[in-house]
Amino acid sequence: HDALPIWCSHMSWREIYAAKLKTPEEAVKIIHSGDTVLIAHAAAEPDGLVSAMVDYVVEQDLRDIHLVQQHDMGTCKFFEQGMEKHFRYSSLFIGARSRNYVAEGKGDYVPVFFNRIPNYVTDIEPADVFLVTLSMPDEHGYCSYGLSCDFAKEAGERPGTKVIGAVNPNMPRVMGDNFIHVSCLESIVESNEPIHEHARPVIGEVEEKIGANIAGLVHDGDCLQLGIGAIPDAVLKFLGDKKDLGIHSEMISDGLMDLYETGAITGKRKNIDKGRMVITFMMGTRKLYDFVNDNPAICMKPVSYVNDPFVISQNDNVVSINSALQIDLMGQVCAEAIGLKQYSAVGGQMDFVRGASASKGGKSIIAFGATTKGGTISKIVPFLTQGAAVTTSRNDVDYIVTEYGIAHLKGKSLRERAQALISIAAPAFRDDLAKEFEKRFGETI
Ligand code: COA
Repeated sequence: HDALPIWCSHMSWREIYAAKLKTPEEAVKIIHSGDTVLIAHAAAEPDGLVSAMVDYVVEQDLRDIHLVQQHDMGTCKFFEQGMEKHFRYSSLFIGARSRNYVAEGKGDYVPVFFNRIPNYVTDIEPADVFLVTLSMPDEHGYCSYGLSCDFAKEAGERPGTKVIGAVNPNMPRVMGDNFIHVSCLESIVESNEPIHEHARPVIGEVEEKIGANIAGLVHDGDCLQLGIGAIPDAVLKFLGDKKDLGIHSEMISDGLMDLYETGAITGKRKNIDKGRMVITFMMGTRKLYDFVNDNPAICMKPVSYVNDPFVISQNDNVVSINSALQIDLMGQVCAEAIGLKQYSAVGGQMDFVRGASASKGGKSIIAFGATTKGGTISKIVPFLTQGAAVTTSRNDVDYIVTEYGIAHLKGKSLRERAQALISIAAPAFRDDLAKEFEKRFGETI
């Protein structure tokens, strides 16, 4: 495989397309017991093709198929009862369906930084077969990886990985380093399934307050990364009066479209990829997918580029905005687990925390509501719950924001961090946290 077409002197790309066209049932027959099968990420998960693969594996009683997936969004037929005897499942980012499957011990979670996932799927656990949704071919025979460039580009170009592409008119053609030629595909299936969507998050009072706090940390010309969820979307609502913002972000969702339409994003002050919004994947509604279709303002690139902390740091004034589930009084952030239960993954959080930290004038912000479960649980705690993973270490942490304010932890002592964090905890929990402070530092707060 190569990025360039594998030209066949006597065939046009249309003839190659016709020769490779199969039904999903025929296409999956290349899978053998012991193979590693990689499923495309998030919105690019090809549901019909994956279901055909599961049916074939069960019918042929194939064994030890290693399924590798990052952030499940589809129906995931392989999670049905009894499938464990056919499949080993590894998740690189836990989603709604894999969460309990992995927690019950039926599948596994593999910790890996997002920028290193291409290395995982090409070198550590190289895929024999890659199942991916693609856009329809353009007039030159190139299909776009659409909404998930991330690891797809490198997986698709690895010699030895057979790519089965589900070409789908609903998958937008998204510009950038985001294409594969039909001649590089092992086989082609046609699909008209709707592309997986991610509903706009509900932005409540807490998210609005956090958004307003963060907006005070963002200045004209800053280059933004926005994580997933209600908080990044809420921040975007408060940035409409800024000028010349840039976007270099692992992902975007619908909120960015609204901000773009205010004219606040020009990318003029970026040092690299000037004037373009650089992204590696997207999840949102159909409106977002139509917005990015053939839009020259969008530039999709592999995650090994977009999330490389060195690349991120080439822009000045990078501001990364992510979320978390817990933080302890030393500033250790858990963004991916509730105790031992893996909730999501590190994703690109550390990639951007480190990239922003190395950017001239950069800052990384981790923002969350001070409590969860109707105000009964504080997210600011003396100790992380036993078993929880540290996502962003205390050596990396910079700004923490809740609806009660901003704690700037970078360069602060453990005593100063604890003080700052208690001041932005929910009032109902401050007394208990203050008692812990007294025990730890021998003074009252
Ligand atoms: N104790 C117990 N439960 C908690 C908790 C805590 N400290 N914190 C949150 N929860 C529960 C919530 O109540 C909620 O439960 P529900 O689904 O039953 O309502 C659930 O966990 C999710 O919490 P929430 O705060 O709503 O999460 P979110 O959707 O805003 O996502 C992260 C926050 C941290 C999970 C998400 O940002 C993430 O996965 N980050 C890591 C990856 C990353 O940052 N990538 C970079 C860019 S994409």
